[in-house]
Amino acid sequence: MQAIETFPTTDNVANLQLDASGNLRHLLTLEGLEKDLLVGLLDDAQKFVTHPGDATARSQSLAGRTVANLFFEASTRTRASFDLAGKRLGADVLNLDVNTSSRKKGESILDMIYTLQAMQVDVMVVRDASAGVPAYIARHVNDYVSILNAGEAEVSHPTQGLLDLLTIRQHKGSFEDLTVAIVGDIAHSRVARSTGQGLHTLGVGELRLISPPVLAPDAGEMPYARLFDNLEQGLRDADVVIALRIQRERIGNLDGIPGIDEYFANYGISTERMQLAKPGAIVMHPGPMNRGIEIESVLADSPASVITQQVANGVAVRMAVLERVCRSMGRH
Ligand code: NCD
Repeated sequence: MQAIETFPTTDNVANLQLDASGNLRHLLTLEGLEKDLLVGLLDDAQKFVTHPGDATARSQSLAGRTVANLFFEASTRTRASFDLAGKRLGADVLNLDVNTSSRKKGESILDMIYTLQAMQVDVMVVRDASAGVPAYIARHVNDYVSILNAGEAEVSHPTQGLLDLLTIRQHKGSFEDLTVAIVGDIAHSRVARSTGQGLHTLGVGELRLISPPVLAPDAGEMPYARLFDNLEQGLRDADVVIALRIQRERIGNLDGIPGIDEYFANYGISTERMQLAKPGAIVMHPGPMNRGIEIESVLADSPASVITQQVANGVAVRMAVLERVCRSMGRH
């Protein structure tokens, strides 16, 4: 039987991720992360962005370090990109198949963490379907271990937020005059939250969250965003449009959730609907993408789409974060 564990979610997570000198020790959330730190991470990541065949974005800065990927929830791109990021910095990378591991046998998450700590793992990359897990682990590890949140329930996905910010910056330069529209299942999306928090910190001109009413965030949750339930109104003059998947696995009761055809008809992003956005507007998607549901297939492959560039930036951002936390307190 699975051990019953509860994970408190009320602590001040933003402070927990900084060391005594204010350096980034863990990456748990973008909420409350100050602008200079955010911009510094984007600048670091930009240096790791290269083109196919270009081997310069490699270093040995993490040689002798060990990074463990602990994905308690399914992932393809985030896990692969943390794996590659660690390897391209010269770290040893341990990918634990946690679906068949001890946690299934009832071992508590902390016992698993202490085991890895005893094997001198320096960085643990954690994805979990329960809220509060990354911060809970961060509060229990030794000074020389860093925790990186790779997706926490519907709460937070900070490296996805960073890679979205980097992609937008590459295309649009600065944020102040931009209108960014995030479309889809906002209620269950950790991507909408992290990307939205980061955009807010960077002073985005306008953040719009567009969804069917049943998938809208709680009123007041993101007071800096404008909520829309009408797609056409929300897309008008947008510079950036981010499409999201309906996170069916997070929705207990699917009553009232639009079916595929109805969803595409009302909220699907298509080439035609993109005409409402500003000329030169870009389309993004964190993946996995459902063609013909939240995004029209031809649009996903069109010049307006920067979806594969997001994936490439994901590796660069994770390299920057790994390097940064390995420079913080307790390290040499
Ligand atoms: C997202 C996630 O896992 O939160 N995907 C990702 O990390 N690339 C979004 C999703 O699952 O829809």
